[in-house]
Order: sequence, then structure tokens, then C-alpha cells
Amino acid sequence: MANRTAFVTGSARGIGRSCALALAGAGARVACADLDVTGLEETAKLIREGGGEAYVIRIDISSHESIKEVFAKTAKEFGRIDILVNNAGITKDGLAMRMTKENWDAVIGINLTGSFLCAQQVMPGMLKERWGRIINIASVVGQSGNPGQANYVSSKAGVIGLTKGLAQELGSRTITVNAVAPGFIETAMTAALPEEVRKAMLSRIPLQRMGTPEDIAAAVRFLASDDAAYISGQVLGVNGGMYM
Ligand code: NAI
Repeated sequence: MANRTAFVTGSARGIGRSCALALAGAGARVACADLDVTGLEETAKLIREGGGEAYVIRIDISSHESIKEVFAKTAKEFGRIDILVNNAGITKDGLAMRMTKENWDAVIGINLTGSFLCAQQVMPGMLKERWGRIINIASVVGQSGNPGQANYVSSKAGVIGLTKGLAQELGSRTITVNAVAPGFIETAMTAALPEEVRKAMLSRIPLQRMGTPEDIAAAVRFLASDDAAYISGQVLGVNGGMYM
């Protein structure tokens, strides 16, 4: 992936950090973007320690203004973006009957609208270059559904739809668009789950373990590579067999 530049949202920790490290390990220069600058500095330090090149940039994916500003700045200071990983995401769980419109809008706004708006920013450069990779981080629950997460499930199902729509629009210019749908992954997002919920989840996973951020990053690295040149519009489940 030498001579390629990647932009990874939500890369201050968790899956996003692992994706940034994996892409840097494969030779890409990586723009690491997140709200949390302290976390980003740590990601960039890890990349540089491994001999890679990283650029730290604060972004608020819930704001169209911030997205426009950041991509313009990145293009100016770091160059063209070849690979976009739309990873930043949030949950605001609750039963649908009692879910507030604020919590609905916040989750759709970051997970779905944010992914669309970031993709829109990289399109002109990719179209001009006639090469690009857009990888959206969806979720197994966007495929299977999950109680208590109507907003999150809808956002991730939307991300899968976005992936297919963009894949059709951009394919003629050698731009592939795919989604990775993680299962139950060990990160801050899942650390807070009660023990019974964890046990119940594990009982549904044929591989009998939670996934790691590195499991997801390996799939992202593959989809970003030349080896995945003929794969587009797909949803790659990385879930230990939890959903087939
Ligand atoms: P995490 O909560 O550990 O990390 C998310 C990152 O996104 C954080 O660094 C956070 O600061 C950043 N972020 C949140 N809101 C932002 C905003 N408005 N602007 C910029 N950055 C923002 O989450 P994790 O677990 O690493 O998840 C990453 C992605 O993978 C998310 O899209 C999530 O929905 C998805 N996923 C995670 C699963 C899991 O089991 N952990 C399962 C399925 C999908």
C-alpha cells in the first residue's frame, strides 16, 4: 500500500486505532481523525514507532462543517486520500417505545449521515485519480437486528445500503466500496455490558470467543489492498460465525 494515503475516522481507540495501525503496517500513510486528540496522539505514536507516517486531525463527524473543514485541510497538508475507513460510531441504546428523537438523530447522524458526508468528501479526488477504496464499518446487528437498538440497527443497515449505492455509482472509476460488519468485539463499546449479556452473546458464537479489533483491522486491510480489486458492494461479516 506504498504511495497510498488512508483516512480513518474514530481512530483514537478501539477498532479505528487497529485499522489505522494495520493500514500503516501495510505501507499506507494514515490520517487519524477523531474527536479525542489525546487518543489520536497515542495512535500516531504507535504508527510512528512502527516506522509509519501518521497525521493527527480533530474531527466532529456529527458536524457537516467540521467534516468539510477537516477534509480540505487534510488534502492541503497531507495530500490526496485513496482509502477512507468510515469507522467512527456511537450507540445510544433504549427500547424503541421510549427512545427520544435526540438519541435517534444522534446515532443516525454520526453512524450513517457522517459516513455519507465523509465519502462525499473523498469522491472528487478518487474519481480524478480513477482509484479508491471506501470501507464502511457496519455491524452484525445491521444484518440481524437487535432489541433495544432501533437507532443503531437502522444506522448500520443504512450503512450497508450506502455501501451498495456508492459501489454502483463509483465502480466505473475503479473505486470499490465495501462494508465490514463486526460481531461482538472487545472494545470500550462492549466493555460496559453486564456479565449475563456477555455469556448469552458468547453462547451464540460458533468460534466461542469475542473478536478483537485486530480481527476487524485484518479484513479492512484486505479490502483496502490490491488483492481485493474485484470485490465491491459486499458486506464482509467478521463475527466468529455469529450470523451467517
Ligand atoms: P469505540 O467507542 O471504542 O470507538 C469509537 C471512536 O469513535 C472513539 O474514538 C470516539 O471518540 C470516536 N467518535 C465518536 N463520536 C465521534 C464524532 N462525533 N466525531 C469523531 N469521532 C467520534 O468503538 P469501537 O468498538 O472501536 O467501534 C468502532 C466501530 O465499529 C463503530 O462504528 C461501531 O459501531 C462498530 N462496531 C463495533 C462493535 C463492537 O463490538 N465493538 C460491533 C459492531 C460494530
